Amino acid sequence: MTTLVAVQGDITAQTSDAIVNAANNAMRGGGGVDGAIHRAGGPEILRECIARFPNGLATGDAGWTTGGRLPARWIVHTVGPNHGAGQRDRALLESCYRRSLEVADELGARSVAFPLISAGVYAWPRREAISAAIDTIASTPTSIEEVLLVAYDAKAHQEISSALAMATSVRILQGARELHRRGYHGLRVRPAVAPSGMYWRVVLYDPAEPDSGIHYTSGAGTEFAGGHVDAMSAPGDVADLILRALPGLQATNDAPAYAAWFAGLVAAAEPQHALPVASADYFDDTDGWEIGWCSGLRYPKPPE
Ligand code: APR
Repeated sequence: MTTLVAVQGDITAQTSDAIVNAANNAMRGGGGVDGAIHRAGGPEILRECIARFPNGLATGDAGWTTGGRLPARWIVHTVGPNHGAGQRDRALLESCYRRSLEVADELGARSVAFPLISAGVYAWPRREAISAAIDTIASTPTSIEEVLLVAYDAKAHQEISSALAMATSVRILQGARELHRRGYHGLRVRPAVAPSGMYWRVVLYDPAEPDSGIHYTSGAGTEFAGGHVDAMSAPGDVADLILRALPGLQATNDAPAYAAWFAGLVAAAEPQHALPVASADYFDDTDGWEIGWCSGLRYPKPPE
């Protein structure tokens, strides 16, 4: 079981077994995290970088050195895509997290601290840099027990904490999509915003059982359907929780249009963790549901 926690602080002060460096292709140091790590870790790190990475490191790849004078035993260096220079393939950013976890696993690390790769000098939009980090860490098989996302300032820490909460809601939508994939097309989902505008709500129900229904509010955090869901939950486990709470659901495969419509809704919400809203007192659904409340982005209403 891998936990993912947001912490505020300096990556060089983290006591995880491994810390991740937001390096560049040359692998000879730089500014930001890279500069801080080389300064705090000492010249040993540069010497190892020269020896182990004579030709540098490709964007999206990762490699390790020892931690020098740092509390961390190892440094996993990775090179993020440079959004400012036009490298905008999210798969490269996701690869940084996936490869860094693979390298940390090979080292036998049990805990890893990541900065927000590419979110500084490389100018990746922060919200997407955070969702790419959370979703890739959540979907990469690893024996790492604890992953930290290190925010350098209070604002980043608040953004990461909020994104972790939103990811919990996305996992619930992904769990419902997984049930549709298993043939439980009878499962209906209706998301909304609380009147206060503070919380996202969703009802998952079986129209064949009007009194049934799982009601979730983001104010409840990780409590869902009598169990626990968080940013690290696997959609299959969430699907099992929903099925346990709606025992009357049948795998009838009888509403492929609804299942396809819903899969499209989840795909629209996933990249930015923009939660869908079917109705709220600030808009009517004539033009469809909203993807991300107050975003103005619409998605067609469900097929009848
Ligand atoms: N500890 C934790 N986080 C930090 C620290 C630190 N000491 N310093 C900066 N950050 C944060 C930044 O605020 C940003 O959110 O880490 C994130 C990544 O910022 P950068 O270090 O600029 O990394 P990146 O955007 O990937 O750019 C990499 O910058 O430093 C050079 O040599 C590096 O060329 C490479 C490029």
